[in-house]
Amino acid sequence: MVLAPLTKGGNLPYRRLLVELGATVTTSEMALAYKVCKGMRGEMALLRRAPEEQCFGVQLAGRKPAQMARASQIAQERGASFVDVNLGCPIDLFCRRGIGAALMTRARRVGEIVAAMREAVDIPVTVKMRLGWDEEKPTFTSVAEAAVEAGASAITLHGRSRKQRYKRAANWDAVAQLVQSLPIPVIGNGDILTWRDAVEKRERTGCAGVMVARGALIKPWIFSEIQHRRDFLLTPSDRLALLRRYRDLAREHFGDDDHGHQRVHEFLMWHLEFFARYRPVPSDTISPDEHPLIQTRMAPPEALPGIEGLLLRDDEEARRELATQILTDPTPGPASAADVISAILSGP
Ligand SMILES: Cc1cc2nc3c(=O)[nH]c(=O)nc-3n(C[C@H](O)[C@H](O)[C@H](O)COP(=O)(O)O)c2cc1C
Repeated sequence: MVLAPLTKGGNLPYRRLLVELGATVTTSEMALAYKVCKGMRGEMALLRRAPEEQCFGVQLAGRKPAQMARASQIAQERGASFVDVNLGCPIDLFCRRGIGAALMTRARRVGEIVAAMREAVDIPVTVKMRLGWDEEKPTFTSVAEAAVEAGASAITLHGRSRKQRYKRAANWDAVAQLVQSLPIPVIGNGDILTWRDAVEKRERTGCAGVMVARGALIKPWIFSEIQHRRDFLLTPSDRLALLRRYRDLAREHFGDDDHGHQRVHEFLMWHLEFFARYRPVPSDTISPDEHPLIQTRMAPPEALPGIEGLLLRDDEEARRELATQILTDPTPGPASAADVISAILSGP
């Protein structure tokens, strides 16, 4: 179980929350290698590891081998357990500069980047890639082979091309294909929303692990579900307790002054957009044919009063109101998010 790199979503207090809820391997938000090399403050903050993160990888984006190598050294000095190369970022601004998914058409350059990073650090170098630039011309096999040849320790495949974005389900057959052909661990990524998805995809493909992205933003306790192989149907008050815990961790990180509170509010609002997509439907009640993709926003069951209604509403006004209520609410959060799961486990 690997927490995916998530720009903005993978902020340090949120990763701490996820570790309390069972995440064991965590990854930083994408950091731009050239900014890390210049020591730019915002980028350096992305390399920070929380003490409770047992295995924390820093994801780097760049196209110049020497720059990626230097940035890897800096990440290693700051405590990274591994460094990961971003070959998936779809954003035009970066792709035009030859960064992220643009590298999926340049297998040789990927090999040079991985080789330079390997040379520069003692920690493992991993690679996270897509199927290719577009679906018609998948390049993942040649890019993966170049990475392996250059010394990559593991490869994550997100089974979509850059052009596909999230429109269709991720292709896990491609993950199975890579597992068969590579001598190193392959981690599969795409559409893991329930523990059943994780088990089924691992059994079907033989992958060494699964990486979870949006599932961890919608349902931060997904790692506990995968760990225990059961659904945890959290009540609105349980979910509120998790939000309070996040608020407390975020306050600790961003500071308990006006500026800090502003940041906590901003991040709460951001997270609530994903959090609101949760529907307490046990996954075994949904047939595989109608299993909703994560990106499908299921309609709320019905309008509900109070905070529960706010939790389910999918509009900015509700998120703003809820974030303000959570921020100003004097009720302390639980000492650990794990307490919420323990209470369910020891319940009637
Ligand atoms: C908000 C958000 C931010 C993301 N940021 C990154 C990133 O910084 N680096 C990266 O490699 N992938 C990033 N991704 C892609 C995810 O890591 C993952 O590959 C993709 O969402 C598919 O997994 P999922 O179906 O579990 O969401 C991001 C995805 C989301 C939704």
